[in-house]
Amino acid sequence: EQIEKGGYDHFMLKEIYEQPLAIKDTYRGRLLADEGIIKMAGIEDNMKRFLNADRIIIVACGTSWHAGLVAEYIFEDLARIPVEVEYASEFRYRNPVITEKDVVISISQSGETADTLAAIKLAKSKGAFVFGVCNVVGSSIARETDAGAYTHAGPEIGVASTKAFTTQITVLTLIALRLARAKGTMSSSDYRRHLHELELIPEKVTKALEADKHIQAVSQLYKDSHNMLYLGRGYNFPVALEGALKLKEISYIHAEGYPAAEMKHGPIALIDENMPVIIIATKKGHYEKVVSNIQEIKARKGKIIGIVTEGDVSVRELADHVIEVPETLENLSPLLTTIPLQLLSYHIAVMLGKNVDQPRNLAKSVTVE
Ligand code: G6P
Repeated sequence: EQIEKGGYDHFMLKEIYEQPLAIKDTYRGRLLADEGIIKMAGIEDNMKRFLNADRIIIVACGTSWHAGLVAEYIFEDLARIPVEVEYASEFRYRNPVITEKDVVISISQSGETADTLAAIKLAKSKGAFVFGVCNVVGSSIARETDAGAYTHAGPEIGVASTKAFTTQITVLTLIALRLARAKGTMSSSDYRRHLHELELIPEKVTKALEADKHIQAVSQLYKDSHNMLYLGRGYNFPVALEGALKLKEISYIHAEGYPAAEMKHGPIALIDENMPVIIIATKKGHYEKVVSNIQEIKARKGKIIGIVTEGDVSVRELADHVIEVPETLENLSPLLTTIPLQLLSYHIAVMLGKNVDQPRNLAKSVTVE
């Protein structure tokens, strides 16, 4: 097992550090930035189904569901296709309205999650076209879906999902960009800018990982907290949910993810000097508004850990700590802002002596209801 961990203390840490390569493996052969081309057989072969779709319904569970939420922002923003994101376990029992004009995208690392599989079967029985985004080749979901795209993240052993999440977002971004091009919803220059920027993401993830030592020091200060609040807006709202889930899963500290602006409708009541608030406040995407949310937290003496763009000044002045990530396009920022949140939860769990790779009560793949 030591050999399999490749010199890392845990599979989770190894998988966090594998992300630059995993993301590259995901877009390799699919993203030809210089030519302005995205090649994905599963999309090309079924382009009509996608272009005629009234809407896209995304079904998934857990971390994959969070990737679905990020995809909702990307698909609607870039390809102008209405998207609904559903927990597979709710969708399957809700008697949902599904027609032949719907495209369902199922997202699953393992390809074996029972609820997701059942949601796929239901959608197919109603005539929808079902496209799978899976990591495990030949898995049940990969076989059950009409078409699909693998994430090529390599085996993920840690129960808490890391590289599966960022590679799912990568595949879904490629799909959204391909559809946007086909539909003409993006200008050619904007489209090409996105392709080139996506190609730069692996090296920017490497850069984001360089904050590891600093994140470890911050973790030391907050490891004994009983609660933590994660906030983000827009593309980074799902990242806040995912950050909170990571902390819960492996450190057993209660954490809640919330849209930053929604804070005033509830969570703000919890804020005092004992409440650490992790807030994603990158330059692009509602920056000024998030800064004013930070001011509200500060006024209530909450401890602020800001995830910011390199060189940020305003948040640094207000926050107790900042963790920097490189600058990128707003739509691609989840691929970078996720990294420090993974490391924060990892270090806290290690410091608390928890079983990081196999947390209590959790399974890597939930194959029963
Ligand atoms: C379990 C795992 C999570 C995962 C979820 C969905 O709860 O512990 O890490 O996100 O299942 O799994 P899937 O394989 O369908 O992505």
